[in-house]
Amino acid sequence: MLFRQIIHEDLGCASYFVADRESGVAVVVDPQWDVDPYRRLARLHGVRIGHVLETHNHADHVSGHGRLARATGASIHIHELAGAEYEHEHTRVWSSTIAAYDGYVLVTPEYNNAAPPVLVNALNFLFHEWANKAVGLVSYGVDGGARAAAQLRMISGPLQMADVAYSVTLSLFTHFENFSVLKPDARATASLTTTLDQVVAWSAALAPLRAASVR
Ligand SMILES: Cc1cc2nc3c(=O)[nH]c(=O)nc-3n(C[C@H](O)[C@H](O)[C@H](O)COP(=O)(O)O)c2cc1C
Repeated sequence: MLFRQIIHEDLGCASYFVADRESGVAVVVDPQWDVDPYRRLARLHGVRIGHVLETHNHADHVSGHGRLARATGASIHIHELAGAEYEHEHTRVWSSTIAAYDGYVLVTPEYNNAAPPVLVNALNFLFHEWANKAVGLVSYGVDGGARAAAQLRMISGPLQMADVAYSVTLSLFTHFENFSVLKPDARATASLTTTLDQVVAWSAALAPLRAASVR
């Protein structure tokens, strides 16, 4: 058994790297934002990081658990009684707003081929609130914003959201009057109807997974 403590000078917390050499599996407890030290330790000792334990229950605590899980394929574990505790009031409001719905339609403009960072940040700020829910995409811009929508589809994967196939792309040239007043054509309206129908159907279909999920 290998045990290492790693101190985070900036936050005044500690994390732990615990590895079982026989099975070749390591666990990281409360990883800091910079996950390289854990990956180096795993390489050095020839083990793989299979699990991440998070004991900081306030979910807006700066933690590397998501980054480490993405980099290694490890599973993240929190205690089932932990619940969602956030440190900041604005996160609590955002969390309860999102938690209250079973599906979403994200409406996004496109800037320089991407979704606005503020929207990406709002998505990344939460995690379990999005899980096992459906999402539809409506984008707009001079080119219709299809790349912003594609970017949001990528983000919806790790957030465990099911992005429906249909989407609506609105061009400022053809679906707006004077580039400002929305005037969708019949095709855009039909796409919106299909998108909404899919979001509703998939949100309902995912209800058993939401009911079964333990946070
Ligand atoms: C700096 C800048 C970059 C833009 N890049 C894109 C783009 O890559 N694709 C697109 O479809 N529209 C692009 N647009 C057009 C915007 O999407 C459009 O102005 C839209 O109305 C902005 O929405 P908002 O005013 O709700 O933020 C860009 C506009 C600006 C000012």
